[in-house]
Parts: sequence; C-alpha cells; structure tokens
Amino acid sequence: MCGVIGFVGDEASPEFFYNGLKRLEYRGYDSAGIAMLSHGQMYIERAEGKLSALEKKLVHLPLKTSLGMGHTRWATHGKPSEANAHPHKSGNIVILHNGIIENYKEIKSFLQENGYVFESETDTEVAAHLLHYEFHKNTILLSPLENMKRSIFALVSRIRGAFAFGIICTDIPDVLFAVKYGSPLVLGLSDTAHYMASGIAALVEHTRSILIMEDREIAYLTAKNKEIVTFEGVPVSRKPIHVSWAASMLEKNGYDHFMLKEIHEQPQAIAQTINGRIDKSTGEIDLQSYGIHHIPLKNINRIQLIACGTSYYAGILARYFLESHTKIPVEVELASEYRYRTCTVNEHTLCIAISQSGETIDTLQAIRYARTHGAHTLAVVNAPGSSIAHHCHDESLIYAGPEVGVASTKAFVAQVTSLIILGLGIAQTQNIMTSTQIAAVCEQLVHIPYLVEKTLSLSSSIEKMAAKLIHLKSVLFIGRGPQYPVALEGALKLKELSYIHAEAYAAGELKHGPIALIDDEMYTVCLAPRDSYYEKTMSNIEEIRARGGKIISIGTTGDHELKQLSDEFIEVEPCAEMILPFLTTVPLHLLAYWIALKKGHDVDQPRNLAKSVTVE
Ligand code: F6R
Repeated sequence: MCGVIGFVGDEASPEFFYNGLKRLEYRGYDSAGIAMLSHGQMYIERAEGKLSALEKKLVHLPLKTSLGMGHTRWATHGKPSEANAHPHKSGNIVILHNGIIENYKEIKSFLQENGYVFESETDTEVAAHLLHYEFHKNTILLSPLENMKRSIFALVSRIRGAFAFGIICTDIPDVLFAVKYGSPLVLGLSDTAHYMASGIAALVEHTRSILIMEDREIAYLTAKNKEIVTFEGVPVSRKPIHVSWAASMLEKNGYDHFMLKEIHEQPQAIAQTINGRIDKSTGEIDLQSYGIHHIPLKNINRIQLIACGTSYYAGILARYFLESHTKIPVEVELASEYRYRTCTVNEHTLCIAISQSGETIDTLQAIRYARTHGAHTLAVVNAPGSSIAHHCHDESLIYAGPEVGVASTKAFVAQVTSLIILGLGIAQTQNIMTSTQIAAVCEQLVHIPYLVEKTLSLSSSIEKMAAKLIHLKSVLFIGRGPQYPVALEGALKLKELSYIHAEAYAAGELKHGPIALIDDEMYTVCLAPRDSYYEKTMSNIEEIRARGGKIISIGTTGDHELKQLSDEFIEVEPCAEMILPFLTTVPLHLLAYWIALKKGHDVDQPRNLAKSVTVE
C-alpha cells in the first residue's frame, strides 16, 4: 500500500505533488508528506489524516522545485501520525517508502548502537539512517553520486521485505533515485522531466509514456536522462509502454463520488471488455485480441482462478459459466491461502490471476508460485502494465477504465464478463461448443450492458430504502447458484462501506447453523430472481419469514409472491440466467453506497482500507 510520487525536471510546484498524491490516495490515506529541494535546502511538510490535511501546509513549501517527492501512507509499522508520515530524513538524505522492511528491528539496534536517534516508529526510518550511515562511511575517493549508488547497493543488500523507495540527497541536487523490490513502481518519461510513481494514475496527466520497473532494479533519474541498473549493477534497457488512460477518466465527471460514477460505468466496462473479442454473428472468439499469445488452451484440462476480495467473488461467479461452457473442472482459490497447500498444478493447468489493480501482493505471490510449479498463467487485470501481468505468460485487460473508489464495483462485472469470454474461447479451441452455441451465448453477452443500464435506474428507490436501514447492526445475505457469489459481493460491499456487520451464505446453508441468528430484528437480503434455483430459494425465504426475520429481496419484476414475503422488494428485469447475476449486483452496490453515504461515511475511502493491497 502507500502511494509515492517523485519528480526531477524543469519545474514542479507543491500542487504538482499534491495532485499526484490525490491520484494515489486510494493506496492509503492516513497521513501524507511532501519533500522539495530548493536552492540546496530540503523542505518537508507532513500531516496526519487525509491528504486534505496536508493541503493547508503547502504554503510552507517553496513555490517550485526541480527535485521533489510525495507520499500518502497506509500504516503498517507505527500508528498514523505526523511523526510516522513519510518522507523520513537522515541528515542530507530523504527517503520515502512503500512496502515493509521485515528485518528492521535488527538494523535499528545496529544503528542505535552507532548513535542514530529515531523519531518515528516506522520501518522506513531505518532505511533512511542506514543509507545515511553507508553514505558517510567511506567517501574519500568517490563523487557524491557514485557514493550514493554504492550506498543504495549496500542498503538493498542489507534489508529484507518489500520496498519501493524514492530517495533524494541534498548533495546530488539533480538526481532522483528510485528503487524497486516487491512493491510497484513505474517511471514516467517526458522531454523535460522524469517521474516515478506507485501507479500510472498519478502520471497520465503529465505523460503517457510509462516504463515499468521490475524487481531488483534501481533507477537514477535526471531531467534529461535515465539509467536503470539491477541490484547487481547490470545496466537495464527496456522500452516504455504507451498508456491509453486519459486524465479525464480519473475525474468524478459530475458525480458526487467515484464509487457512484464507477457503478454507473458498469455498462461501459462490460461493453469495452467484450468489444473486439467476440463475433456474435459467426460465434467466433478472437483469442489474440483477448490476449492469449502463449498459453496452449487446447491442452488445458484444469483451471484455477486465484484472487482476493471482490475479484475472488468474481472468480466464484465466473466458475459457473466456465464449467458449463468448457466442461473443464474449475477451482477458485483465495490467493492469500494458495501457497499454504501442496501445489498440484502441471502443464495442463491454467492458473488465472484475477485482479483489478494487478498489484495485490497475495495474488502476485500465488501466481508466481503456480508458474514456478509448471502451470500456465494468465492475468485478468484492469490496470495496464501491472506486476501481476508481468509475471504471467499472458495478460488480458478488462478495459473497465481506472477504478478510483476503494471499493471495487465496475471491475467485478468486467472480470466476470472477461472470464465468460475466455470460457467460450476455450470451448471453441477444444471443440466443446459449436459456433452456433457460442453465438447464442455471445448474443446474451452483448445485451448485458443495456440491461445493466436499465437496472441503474433503481438508484433513487434504493436511496429511499437505504434511509430506513442505516440503524442496522447486522445483515445476512443469501443466494443460490450464481446468486451466491453475488450475495458474497453484496455483503462485502455493505460491511466495508457502511461498517455494518454482514455475512453471506449459500441459501441452502442457512439451515445448517446461521438460521439461529434470525429474529425479528435481523434483516436478510435475499437474492431470488426467477432462475433454476428460484423455488428452493423461495423455501429458504419462507423459513426466514416463519422465524420473524425481516426480508429485503431482489427478484424479478412482477413477482408478487416474493414481494408479499418481503419488507423491501427490489425488482430486476426478467432475462437469461447468465445475465441475472449482473443485474442483481447493481442494486447491492447501490444499497451499500447509499447506506454508507446516509451514515456519513467517506464512500470512496472507507476506514482502514487501501485499494491496492501490496502487503501480505
Ligand atoms: C472490495 C475490494 C477488495 C479487492 C481486493 C483485491 O471492494 O475492492 O476486496 O477486490 O483487495 O484487489 P485486486 O482486484 O486489485 O487484486
């Protein structure tokens, strides 16, 4: 977590760093800081709390600089406070960090024995002092630049963990140092400046020419030049990528919150994910355009979907369609647990990492593990140039556009869409489905954006409903078949945004224990559109009703029976079964949004969270 931005070039203002941090605030928002070098003097301002707290301090910074850095923090070591906010300074050296230094305690003791006094509780300050120690150890024959290069090598050879560092030394006023190992870091290239950042979102308004740093690399950046070497000092040459995200995509564009905007972008996200990959008239799936270039789909006889959080739920939902279309067994794996079992993949296994950010460390580690054990690996990701994509054999972008709200919404539906297309592509390659059968599914796929768009009109009625539900302490969610992962997604959204306890169960599991929770105060959100499982789910709803439980149901338009059983009834259009989970997801995202908003919460930045989870 944490967002870092750095600049070396002709001229940058405090607002440049502040605005860059705003683009990265989704990565952490408990404190922030900016360092700017001006006329040989280092100016640092830091503030506890959201970035807006730092805004008030920008006046204390110089009007412009040719070298500076900024940081927005998600606390790991040390509580959110100004003292723990980055950047950290040790004499002439200033450093900021995204990641965790695992052996910081032992290094701290060493540095304390050598007279260093610590002002924060962070692991990062250890890196600042260690670098300072190295820099001042043996300087006689080296220029400050060569000395710093040597000191950084010494630093990275001594610390363990994950780190993306930005480093400035007042003795070297024209160089920004960027170091990457295990945490994301990209460089932005332009004619007059070089940039570094944790994510491309911070850079697209300045340059779309992005160079993705790899692990174990150090960049020495000046306004006009860049040099990249490995931790072993071997020069690296890599071409930049051109990023299509426009800065305007990172604005709220008239919506009050990014989350609401992104919920309303779900039709587009689905349509863009489909675009150019299917031909509904011939039933042909264009696997090249999908991103399959190396994986031999013909030989695949087992699929593992590996992900965290909402992306994991997208995997559970996609499994229904993948299994039904490919007839291949599909397992859905929590990335954070994946490596704790014996890995049994082989050259016939396709492991798919599903990740909006493409940076989630658990997913990254899991997919690397699967690849090392012989599986074919595919990244289904939203952010271009991500670490997860880099570590997979192939990459398929979902084209949802940048997702800024911390709670994932449009990426969920785009991920499911993408995996349905992949399933059809596998079925085509292995001759499991005829082109006529594939065309029939494609026909349904292309209708989804339109039906989701119609479902979005429920927003105002859900807003009214939400006002009545803000007092709730706990809510259950139930669904059967493809509605079960939708229930999981709905419960996650409600708890992370509104801080109301919420649990989702497969509807059939209720009677195996959770039904004991039902009383006349307990609300259950019941997903019961008219699908193959409808009657069984209705029986479960009756069971809740019989015990006095309150019911919020999401069903099909005109379902009077369900409406009568319900305290609140939300209706979605009758449609094909594959489309239904897309439609029932929309009201659940809206419900979580409106309840959280009415409770006065920050819906775009819920407490304790960060969007890109780069710690294990
Ligand atoms: C929930 C949410 C998280 C993410 C999870 C994985 O709203 O956003 O649960 O889905 O942290 O993130 P990605 O998809 O970036 O790997």
